[in-house]
Amino acid sequence: MNKIEAIIREEKLDAVKNTLAAAGFVGLNVVHVTGRGAQRGVVHTVRGGETIQIDMLPKLKVELVVKDGDTEKAIQIIIAAARTGNIGDGKIFVSPVTQVIRVRTGERGEAAI
Ligand SMILES: Nc1ncnc2c1ncn2[C@@H]1O[C@H](COP(=O)(O)OP(=O)(O)OP(=O)(O)O)[C@@H](O)[C@H]1O
Ligand SMILES: [Mg+2]
Repeated sequence: MNKIEAIIREEKLDAVKNTLAAAGFVGLNVVHVTGRGAQRGVVHTVRGGETIQIDMLPKLKVELVVKDGDTEKAIQIIIAAARTGNIGDGKIFVSPVTQVIRVRTGERGEAAI
């Protein structure tokens, strides 16, 4: 099992959520994050011509745990829904999950996802 953490643009949440759900990936978390990528935020020119650097930008983190065999499919769905082709489209992190337990039934592993 893997945890997929996808940092996406806020306006892409509905598209990501809906296309994931349509493929059977229903359970997930959405967390508001602030962060920066390779460009270290953005530079705005304000009135008078001075520039201000906004270091940390608001993004959303979509977090879901999937079966090993579903991992690539979920990644491709997220990319297709979240991508604009411009800088700041986000990033996807994948890490192993050793156990999942459904509290109600005690089921474990992939059956509990
Ligand atoms: N190495 C990283 N570790 C953790 N979070 C990151 C990392 N890189 C980016 N992020 C998070 O992802 C968000 C979006 O990153 P962003 O899409 O700008 O990545 P990038 O590497 O700069 O790619 P691009 O050149 O396409 O902008 C950041 O605001 C930050 O929240
Ligand atoms: Mg960037």
